[in-house]
Amino acid sequence: MTKLRVGLLFGGCSGEHEVSISSARAIAKALTSDQNADKYELLPFYIQKDGIWQAVEIAQQILESGVPLQTQNPKPNSPHPRLWQFPALAGEVDVWFPILHGPNGEDGTVQGLLKLMQVPFVGTGVLGSAMGMDKIAMKMAFAQAGLPQVKYMAVNRSQIWSNSCVFPKLCDQIEATLGYPCFVKPANLGSSVGIAKVRSRTTLETALDNAASYDRRLIVEAGVVARELECAVLGNDQAKASVVGEITYKSDFYDYETKYTAGLADLSIPALVPDAIADKIQDMALQAFAAVDAAGLARVDFFYVETTGEVLINEINTLPGFTATSMYPQLWAATGISFPALVDQLIQLAIERGNTITAEALPV
Ligand SMILES: Nc1ncnc2c1ncn2[C@@H]1O[C@H](COP(=O)(O)OP(=O)(O)O)[C@@H](O)[C@H]1O
Ligand SMILES: [Mg+2]
Repeated sequence: MTKLRVGLLFGGCSGEHEVSISSARAIAKALTSDQNADKYELLPFYIQKDGIWQAVEIAQQILESGVPLQTQNPKPNSPHPRLWQFPALAGEVDVWFPILHGPNGEDGTVQGLLKLMQVPFVGTGVLGSAMGMDKIAMKMAFAQAGLPQVKYMAVNRSQIWSNSCVFPKLCDQIEATLGYPCFVKPANLGSSVGIAKVRSRTTLETALDNAASYDRRLIVEAGVVARELECAVLGNDQAKASVVGEITYKSDFYDYETKYTAGLADLSIPALVPDAIADKIQDMALQAFAAVDAAGLARVDFFYVETTGEVLINEINTLPGFTATSMYPQLWAATGISFPALVDQLIQLAIERGNTITAEALPV
C-alpha cells in the first residue's frame, strides 16, 4: 500500500515556537507508531524563528533533540535577509499537518500558503484561523452567534500613542464602561503575552502602552471571578465536543509563567461541574466552532462564574497545544480517542475537507 506523505510543519515565527516543537514531537511519534506507521510517511518541515524553512533532515534533528535551531539576528543596516525559501520536498507532500501556534501559523497566514498549494491540510482555513486569532473579530463572531461573553472594548494603537487628548478620554471610558479589575490584551498574540490584569488608572495606562507595543489592535475586558473550563472539538461540518476539563492555578491569572512552568497549573479531566454546565459548555463549544468556520480541531475556553451559574465564552484556539500532556489530546483521551487515533482522524478530516473544497473550486 502506498503511504500518504504527511508534511508536519512546526516551529514558526511566534512566541510559541518551543511549544510547537513539543507538539510536533508528540504528533511525529504518533504518526510513526502502531497502525499509523502503515498508513503514513512522515515528512517534517521546520520553520526557524526567523522564518526560514528547513526540510526533512534538519527538521528531523529538531524533532529528535527538541531544541530550536539558533538563528542570528540580522545586523543593523545589513541588506534585508531572504526570509523564506521553499524546500523542493514540500512538493511531495500529500497532506499537511501544520502545528504552529500563535501568529504566523494559527492566524491564517500559513493556511493561505497551504491553500494555494492545493494540498489538503489539517485544521481550520484562512478565514476561521484569522477570526480565531484576532480577539476583536472573534468576539464579534461570537456576539453574532448569541454566545454570552464578558463586556469588552476594542481599542486601536492610535488612540493610545498618537494623541495626548484622546488617551485620557479613552481611559475614562474604559473605567466607566468596564471598571476594575479589567484585562488589557493585544488582540493577536496568545500564551498570555502582553496581557495585564489592572486595578488602577496608573496600571491601566502602562498596560495599554505595553499592549500597544505588541499589536495595533487591542482589547480591554471586564474581569470576572470564574473557574476556567475548556472543551475540545473534533470534526468538520458534523463536529463533536469532548468532555470538559478545568485548569486550576494559584497565580493571579493564567499568565505566561503559569502556562509554561511545570507544576504551576493543574488540569482536571473531567471537570467537576454539574452535568447541565458541562452540556451547556459542549453546546457552546460547537456553536463557537461553527461561528468562526473552524474545521478539524479547536479548543474552546470558558469562564464559569460559579456564584451565578453563568457560562461565558473566553476564546477559541484553532491550533491548540498538542503535546502529550496538553489539554486538547487529553480531553479526547478521556472521551475515548487515543492520541494516535486522534492524529489519524485529523488527517482523514483534512482529506475529507480538501476533497470538498477542490470539488467546489472546480469550474462548472
Ligand atoms: N475577562 C477576564 N476575566 C478574568 N480572567 C481573564 C479575563 N481575560 C483573561 N483572563 C485570564 O487571562 C488568561 C489569558 O487570557 P486569554 O484571553 O485566554 O489570552 P490567551 O489567548 O493569551 O490565552 C485567561 O486564561 C484568564 O486566566
Ligand atoms: Mg487563553
